[in-house]
Amino acid sequence: MKKLFGVIVLIVLLSVLFYGKASLKMMQQSGSNPSEKTEAVGSSVREKLLLDPGWKFHFGDAASPKDDFGYGIELLFAKAGESGGAVSSDFDDSSWRTLDLPHDWAVELDFVKMNDENVMSHGFKPIGRQFPKTTSGWYRKSFFIPQTDEGKRLAVKFDGVFRDCKVWLNGHYLGNNLSGYSEFSYDVTDYINYGEKNVLVVRVDASQYEGWFYEGAGIYRHTWLLKYDPVHIPDYGIFVYTKVDQSAAKVNIETKIINQSEGKADGELSSLIIDEKGQTVGQADAQPFELSPDEAKTVKQQIVVANPQLWSLETPHLYRLVSLVKSGNAVLDSVETTFGIRTIFFDKDKGFFLNGKHLKIKGVCCHQDHTGVGSALPDRLQYYRIEKLKEMGCNAYRTSHNPPTPELLEACDKLGMLVMDENRLMGSVPEFMGQFERLILRDRNHPCVIIWSLGNEEGRIQNADVGKRIAKSMIERLKELDPTRLCTYAANNGNQYSGINEVLPVRGFNYINITDIDKYRKDHLDQILMGSEEASTVCTRGIYANDPVSGYVSDYDLNFPRWASTAERWWSFYAERPWLAGGFAWTGFDYRGEPTPYGWPCINSHFGIMDMCGFPKNNYYYYQAWWSDKDVLHIYPHWNWKGREGQIIDVWCQSNCGAVELFLNGKSLGKKTMPPNSHLEWKVAYRPGVLEAKGWKNGKVISAKIETTGEPVSIHLAPDRPSINADGEDICIVNVTAHDAKGREVPIADNLIKFELNGRGKIIGVGNGNPSSHEPDKYLLGTYQRRLFNGKCQVIIQSTQEAGEINLTATSDGLKSDSIVIKTLPCKPRPTV
Ligand code: GAL
Repeated sequence: MKKLFGVIVLIVLLSVLFYGKASLKMMQQSGSNPSEKTEAVGSSVREKLLLDPGWKFHFGDAASPKDDFGYGIELLFAKAGESGGAVSSDFDDSSWRTLDLPHDWAVELDFVKMNDENVMSHGFKPIGRQFPKTTSGWYRKSFFIPQTDEGKRLAVKFDGVFRDCKVWLNGHYLGNNLSGYSEFSYDVTDYINYGEKNVLVVRVDASQYEGWFYEGAGIYRHTWLLKYDPVHIPDYGIFVYTKVDQSAAKVNIETKIINQSEGKADGELSSLIIDEKGQTVGQADAQPFELSPDEAKTVKQQIVVANPQLWSLETPHLYRLVSLVKSGNAVLDSVETTFGIRTIFFDKDKGFFLNGKHLKIKGVCCHQDHTGVGSALPDRLQYYRIEKLKEMGCNAYRTSHNPPTPELLEACDKLGMLVMDENRLMGSVPEFMGQFERLILRDRNHPCVIIWSLGNEEGRIQNADVGKRIAKSMIERLKELDPTRLCTYAANNGNQYSGINEVLPVRGFNYINITDIDKYRKDHLDQILMGSEEASTVCTRGIYANDPVSGYVSDYDLNFPRWASTAERWWSFYAERPWLAGGFAWTGFDYRGEPTPYGWPCINSHFGIMDMCGFPKNNYYYYQAWWSDKDVLHIYPHWNWKGREGQIIDVWCQSNCGAVELFLNGKSLGKKTMPPNSHLEWKVAYRPGVLEAKGWKNGKVISAKIETTGEPVSIHLAPDRPSINADGEDICIVNVTAHDAKGREVPIADNLIKFELNGRGKIIGVGNGNPSSHEPDKYLLGTYQRRLFNGKCQVIIQSTQEAGEINLTATSDGLKSDSIVIKTLPCKPRPTV
């Protein structure tokens, strides 16, 4: 037996080494590309195939059954497999649009001006019952399943569909999933046409909102076809958690094995741990199991890893657990689970500790929305956004107000970002408890997740007994599914204890009220306290005066709605109180919808520390100064104030220097001392030229300058990477600026830029961060273009599966054009159906 185990371990090791190398190679090609995720190891039956490519799509019609392809008039739920309209396998969808997932149809639609709170908070897109022609959509996908798959278990899995979707396979109704943020899957083994074509049909109904922010519409996350041996580790079947003792880590593993075959099954489970170099660093003795038909058992194992490489923000080391189910000589299943070894601890007086080291939580809340693509973010964009936040010194991300896309957590694991993982709607009935359970089961192996959030601002229940009871039930269930983490809830009820807050291990505060928070602390010394949501400061990038007509707010740290604060006010308050574990600013990036403090023409929020494209606003440098260990010296506004000569301009400086001196055209305007967690200001009579700052930091002198530029004469394209993977999924993010004759970026340029692309790629979206722009993000037909907004815009390019080059040319009337070449490197695309 031992010998056999040895042989199997060797086989696994060799294949892991092979896969490991392949992964490493892909990583080198694409920076931190997530696409190397490989689940199958060895020769097990398990396959995980992307179902994303080649869907047919058509809008339904919420007002007319005829134009909704018979939905509502066909008898769809009367007899098994008897279907009609677009649900029928033989329905002719040849005239429908062909597209690849992930797909958000809301971002493709024009804006509608309408006096309606919900339409406004969702970004003025025609989604909802009031827009029957664009609020429901049909997706159809035909695919072949070989005869050889008979005898395996097959499942289809959706990472997220917004929302209320119904799914059929080969005319058979599989089920309905309500929330747009929860994953769901169906075992379809019984419904497959083996050796023939299969047709999967999804009707998506986005007519009822879930949130009060832009939510997108459609199958906006990945979709999968899964194949297993009847004896396998089911979804969520592995829970791995660690305990670190001095120089060793105990890795506890719980593995569920299920027998879906017709007879008894026996075999053994082996588990081994592989480090980033591909070395096996620990393994558990093979555990025998015996299962009756339809029986499932959980096997518990422990592996000790000596001298573990801890997962931290600076060195986010990851390990892979390989779980191998075999029977005799046959490998029935092998699953790879990425995990990290680290300790987390919250102290009521001192805050949060990672690996025993104190760490103040410097977090942001974010919605899943980016320029050009809406909620259907390509995987690489998750990494791009986390990288931007890390550069700012941010160390934590709150997935407000819903379970995130899986790739977001993978990016946080790999790049080193803590996560507060948030549930959508609170509830203890099966639908809502079920959503909460799926969130925990899906995400509990991620080292980045440090705390769960039960929900956000449940105004109707948070102070009441009903809220307390629901929270208690959820916490009880959480303890069963994940005893290793605490939970919080984002409460906007200040110094209120009774209700949900009463049962929470970690009290979350939404919005600062100094007296309330201090008073609460005085009365509840035993509760851990944290800022679940703060700031909501409103700024428009590059704008220096409020302009309600255009819908712009100044980019100084001055404006906020009634419940909110400046960046400086909330952070200096939290920084001074060690018993506050830290907090999360609303929000890291702008998102569509919630155009507070305005309405139309604004279509997106102003809360972002960065805009919709990830271009920094000035508060970015406030946070960077006090959150990162970088040398920061940032002065603003720009210095292009033609026509305002002699007038006073407010000059601000965000810096972590001890003192800063400002100069205009070489003449000193005074040296000032920087108070901690604050900023400096000067009033300067405008003269064109050079505004320069000199900062003193621990004996070092740092300088920064802004200059009056000339008119724009040329376009400048800056890709985030020179090469991307030719896998049909990877993207290049190209930031566009205009330069003057001396090569200086012109911060007020607003030229219209047109893009032409040739070669192995396509443009998938454009944007510029202007919260009042009604230009399209998508040009499904015709040429992509975008106006610069305060000097910048962004174009996102996706590779095809052919290696080669992408040539992007940007032109604009009166400007010298620019062209870049992006290489697309050969790679093995993820297996698809
Ligand atoms: C909070 C809410 C967020 C967002 C924010 C805007 O109360 O939790 O979702 O609406 O206000 O300031």
